[in-house]
Amino acid sequence: MTSDRFTTFRSHFPGVNDGVFMSVAQRGLMPVQVQDAIAQHVAKRTGVGWSKEESFKLVEQTRIAFAELVNAHPNEIAFTKNVSDGLNAIAGSIRWAPGDNVILCPELEHPANVYPWYNVARRHGIELRRVPANKGHVDINGFIEAIDNRTRLASVSTVTFSPGFVTDVPALSLVCRERGVRLIVDAAQSVGILHTDVEKLGVDALTVATQKGLISCYGMGFLYCRASFAEELKPASLARFSVDLDEEKHETALIGEDFTYAPAARRFDGGNYNYIGVAAVKAALDLLQELGTPAIEKHVRSLSDRMARGFLDAGLPLCGGRSGPHLGNILALGKSGGGRHYTAEDPAMNKLHKILTEEGVHLAIRKGVLRFSLHAYNNEEEVDQVVEIVGRDQ
Ligand SMILES: Cc1ncc(COP(=O)(O)O)c(C=O)c1O
Repeated sequence: MTSDRFTTFRSHFPGVNDGVFMSVAQRGLMPVQVQDAIAQHVAKRTGVGWSKEESFKLVEQTRIAFAELVNAHPNEIAFTKNVSDGLNAIAGSIRWAPGDNVILCPELEHPANVYPWYNVARRHGIELRRVPANKGHVDINGFIEAIDNRTRLASVSTVTFSPGFVTDVPALSLVCRERGVRLIVDAAQSVGILHTDVEKLGVDALTVATQKGLISCYGMGFLYCRASFAEELKPASLARFSVDLDEEKHETALIGEDFTYAPAARRFDGGNYNYIGVAAVKAALDLLQELGTPAIEKHVRSLSDRMARGFLDAGLPLCGGRSGPHLGNILALGKSGGGRHYTAEDPAMNKLHKILTEEGVHLAIRKGVLRFSLHAYNNEEEVDQVVEIVGRDQ
């Protein structure tokens, strides 16, 4: 049963009245609190009332909130534009040597977590070790077998964008640590929905944008970088908020060539912040915090489980089969692996997509499969409604 707390949470999202929204893997619905925060920011900037000092305070409060969200220290958080920005910040800052290698599974990764490594390969002559997917899952054993003494780094998604299985990151990080390999995660599909603890995951860096599980703006994100790792890195790009600035000094003061990098991940901050994006995501974080991500994960996993059972009972081809640890907030129907984003590989799935869309269900097609993705604003009635629609035709 959906509890009162989740019903109240849902009431903040006008978008739930516009059909059944199951596409957070594309973008999350925005709550009215975020709309209000953006409107207030714009109102202040439209007049003369905006204060940069106040916005700086909000930046630091948001940094603390991001840190709390993933169990990190605030100095381990940098502000970024998106997922790619965070990955490129790391990729561009490592001192690579020819013959180093990076392990990844391009077959399952979003291009955001592939191009930065292609670029490192082209610029620095490193080797990319591509591990094939295992039935739609990131093959942890395959990653482990690919590690050798020239492996510098492995990069995976916490949850793939299609077919959306949860990666067993702790199993991989255990071995990466033993072998001195840095582990980076693209957490675009999990943060804000699945509880995230960087210590339990054992990762060295994590990158995310705010338009999906963090129910706010595009063009805004954060990078977690473990302090001990960040302190080894010389950022590829440098700007005023990347250097250690004495509290007494104005933000425009030039330190000089003997500057020191800002502590830990702050060295990746760069120039002016996206103040409107910060205001938006702070409002979103406050709202998410009212439920807490452990409760959100529990709610969402219970909905996914209900939906998985419904799909299987209707005889539908659910990727990954029965519910298990691989099932988080994304369910995919059809045969995964095709390159299509607008039509499914299977005509029966295209027909189903048409029916669902006509019935007001918002979902996506990614890599040839129908992708349903859930957040805390979804409820059991919506799940049952979708299961009923898909079952009708079987
Ligand atoms: C797994 C994954 N990574 C990254 C992104 C987006 O990357 P960026 O924020 O850099 O555009 C998405 C979706 O948009 C995604 O699903």
